[in-house]
Amino acid sequence: MNERHIQIEQALLGVLDPATGKNLVEAGRVKRIDATENHWAIDLEITNPALHVKKKIEADISKALSPFRPDSVQLQVHFLVNSQARAEERKVLPGVRRVVAVASGKGGVGKSTVAVNLAAALSRLGSRVGILDADIYGPSVPLMLDTKYVRPGLVQDEQGRSLIEPVENYGIKMLSIGFFAGDDQAVAWRGPMASKALTQMITEAAWGELDFLILDLPPGTGDIHLSLVQLLPLSGVIVVSTPQEVALADARKGVAMFQMPNIQVPVLGLVENMAWFTPLELPDNKYYIFGEGGAAKLAAELNIPLLAQIPLVQGIRESGDRGLPAALDDSNPAAVYFSDLAVSVMEIAHRLAAR
Ligand SMILES: Nc1ncnc2c1ncn2[C@@H]1O[C@H](COP(=O)(O)OP(=O)(O)O)[C@@H](O)[C@H]1O
Ligand SMILES: [Mg+2]
Repeated sequence: MNERHIQIEQALLGVLDPATGKNLVEAGRVKRIDATENHWAIDLEITNPALHVKKKIEADISKALSPFRPDSVQLQVHFLVNSQARAEERKVLPGVRRVVAVASGKGGVGKSTVAVNLAAALSRLGSRVGILDADIYGPSVPLMLDTKYVRPGLVQDEQGRSLIEPVENYGIKMLSIGFFAGDDQAVAWRGPMASKALTQMITEAAWGELDFLILDLPPGTGDIHLSLVQLLPLSGVIVVSTPQEVALADARKGVAMFQMPNIQVPVLGLVENMAWFTPLELPDNKYYIFGEGGAAKLAAELNIPLLAQIPLVQGIRESGDRGLPAALDDSNPAAVYFSDLAVSVMEIAHRLAAR
């Protein structure tokens, strides 16, 4: 160890490890420091690989070293992800491996349809899945998963604390603001009360062990999004749009919000819903009634994957209204679009976690 080395380690005593609340050195996060004349490299173990967490630590380190780091010296922080430790240390929803949000700029583009069918398709692939309907403006998960008239009960945890017990159907756990506020009450629930209820559905609910928790976010970019992102480390977000110009413009704003420096949630990709219309009696015909190619263009421009193109077909609307997601219904020709989407999401989430 040379002097420079010691100086760097000293400085890292002043940088907080977000997972434990100790400093990076005491928390045992610093695995290696390599300081040459022009290049300082630090290997850090982290438990939460979310981009916003990495960026924050990087910025904190850079600041801590700035008093003695010459401008000519390049600083590099290598993150070693220890996902085992991660599950143990996450304070919010420690049993949930991945939280994936489904967002859209505009309402009515099929965000809930995509969220519910993605959850269903992941479950079919063998994952343990939950869905949190955070759309306080139009909770539709209970209708789409046939639990509209069910009410969540309470369970006690080991410490005797009362927790909300998610409702379960088709092997999917779910909570929705719709379970607590009737359709007619929804308006009164907006604002702080809805935010509080949402927080409770995350911090005071018995979600148990899940591979994926899917969040059906409200449309747009608002306070609810920001408070959710602060409360829960998201593994990533999927943005849903139709091919229409107005929807694409709003999707672009959505992506920009998640990529803001203080948010930094990885955008897993874009889903183009209602990409074309196919009538039941002409299953080979495609009519691009909302325009063609817009989502692919936007995805390329933003350098994010186009995860799926889902057609506008009667069977998807009907399955939503009937409470049996298309993804769970082999007789529904649209099921394949959602299983393909689920496979892509699993692959990308896996790659991100390994980074
Ligand atoms: N690909 C599709 N084909 C047919 N109907 C669809 C499709 N996607 C969504 N819908 C229907 O459009 C309406 C709005 O979809 P929804 O998922 O509730 O949108 P959002 O959550 O964005 O407001 C619903 O009635 C739904 O069944
Ligand atoms: Mg919705």
